[in-house]
Amino acid sequence: MSNKGARNLFIFGSIFFFLIFLALTFDTMKQIDARSPEITEAVNEGKQAWHKYDCIGCHTIFGNGSYFAPDLTKVTRDKPAGYLKAFLVNPRKTNPNSAMPVLGITPSEAEKLVAFLDWTSRVDTNGWPPEPVLAAMRKAQTGGIAVYQKHGCASCHIIGGVGGTSGPDLSKAGARHPNPDWHVSHLKNPAGTVQGSAMPAYEHLTDDEMKLLSEYLISLK
Ligand code: HEC
Ligand code: HEC
Repeated sequence: MSNKGARNLFIFGSIFFFLIFLALTFDTMKQIDARSPEITEAVNEGKQAWHKYDCIGCHTIFGNGSYFAPDLTKVTRDKPAGYLKAFLVNPRKTNPNSAMPVLGITPSEAEKLVAFLDWTSRVDTNGWPPEPVLAAMRKAQTGGIAVYQKHGCASCHIIGGVGGTSGPDLSKAGARHPNPDWHVSHLKNPAGTVQGSAMPAYEHLTDDEMKLLSEYLISLK
């Protein structure tokens, strides 16, 4: 090929692919617009409050975050706005056993946080997170959390910054002990599993409670 031919091929080739790139970008932007509802001022302020209180330090949203607490991407589909507002201002007032700390959220911030969560709930995430994953997560987390609270584990242990300090912090319990069977043996007989353990034995838990609790513990990473 002559020099001129090579140059033309380069120039037209670049222009051709640049146009394809523009068309694809335009198409993506159009789809994003169609998939997400309007971002109002309240939604925007809600997102700022979301960062201010580091909700993502415990919860996941759109697949990002931590696994201490349930995924909130679609939370306003299951829970009414009024309940969520009251819960955010004071989780213990709505649910006395709640493991969510009282963060000092004002009623006006709660209103905006709910607007933000309602926005995420209405975003067409193309079926993500998948329903079976969500359901499994909900069961492992809310089920396991409920058992954890019922038996007062938080009086000695911290998860995600909440709890007592007589025992080790459990925020990474699943990374230290990834095998659920280890947790079952440890809960039934701590001193038989860890030499000199001062943790009380929980042999009275039902099989169901053991299963939920050990699944929750191994999810903490
Ligand atoms: C220290 C960890 C932690 C932080 C930080 C945290 N949460 Fe939670 N949250 C939890 C836990 C644990 C639950 C599970 C339910 C319970 O125990 O009440 C929960 C539950 C919830 C629920 C569900 C209530 C229900 O009844 O289904 C919502 C909504 C929620 N949190 C919103 C937030 C928002 C918004 C923030 C930030 C402003 C936040 N959380 C910060 C731990 C946390
Ligand atoms: C009276 C205080 C106390 C209570 C209540 C308590 N623990 Fe413990 N826990 C400890 C102590 C002390 C240790 C350290 C010794 C050991 O590993 O057994 C420990 C260790 C652990 C460990 C191992 C942590 C690691 O990093 O190796 C897990 C997991 C655990 N506890 C879970 C639980 C659960 C779940 C409950 C509730 C059913 C609970 N604990 C209730 C005191 C307590």
